[in-house]
Amino acid sequence: MKIRYNFVVCAAVLCSMVMLSGCGNQKKAETAKPAVRKLVMATEATFPPYEYFEKGKIMGIDVDIVSEVAKNLGMELEIMDMKFDSVILSVQTGKCNIGASGITATNERRKLINFTIPYVTAQQVIIVPKNSAIKKPEDLKDKKIRIGVQQGTTGDLFVAKNLHEPQRFDNAGLAVAALLAKKLEAVVCDGEPARVHVSKHPELIILPVILTSEEYAFALNKKDTELLKQINGVLIKMRKSGRLQAILDSYLNKKK
Ligand code: ARG
Repeated sequence: MKIRYNFVVCAAVLCSMVMLSGCGNQKKAETAKPAVRKLVMATEATFPPYEYFEKGKIMGIDVDIVSEVAKNLGMELEIMDMKFDSVILSVQTGKCNIGASGITATNERRKLINFTIPYVTAQQVIIVPKNSAIKKPEDLKDKKIRIGVQQGTTGDLFVAKNLHEPQRFDNAGLAVAALLAKKLEAVVCDGEPARVHVSKHPELIILPVILTSEEYAFALNKKDTELLKQINGVLIKMRKSGRLQAILDSYLNKKK
């Protein structure tokens, strides 16, 4: 009787061990093939040299940096092009998990999303026709001076706050076109894209003054704190190895 009882107990223990190990195998099978995590990048690709279309493809500094970040983290990169004022919103709502669009890290925006460490410094500048009477920022104060900006940018905010209501465009290229068509007297936008625009239109110049000093960073959803740590880790590594500077130089030196 006792032997029999022991046998039953042993059999039960064995059985449950088999079942448990079965469960374990199933778990292993699930974790063996993890779904490739996706890094979905929100951008507005009319902002050379940070993001722009070339032969139907989005290229630029932000694309190169984020591609390298994705590769380092074993993530697949997908890029979504949208209006600039949707970029932060798409990260905030979780439609995208990184905003990479020459985004200036500001305290206002920090209320909505988290920023990575900054990767480059930038400025707001003024573009005017070569023969313009506008020589300094104060000359823009006159309400008759029509100033063009890209909607929702720090240039837009600066002009609205310190000068007067600007004319808002979907991108700085459209504002520059309006300037060339004499529908504006000036355009305020980020320095590097301004240099690209002016290099294509010799009748325009950038005034030798800067309106603001800013830093670009990538935007992440407030909930993605782990991803933020991982991305910052890669950015620090890229900064130390010189890779970040090499990407910046490859575009900024050829003034794409
Ligand atoms: N740095 C400016 C900002 O954060 C302008 C960025 C515009 N970026 C773009 N891809 N259009 O507001």
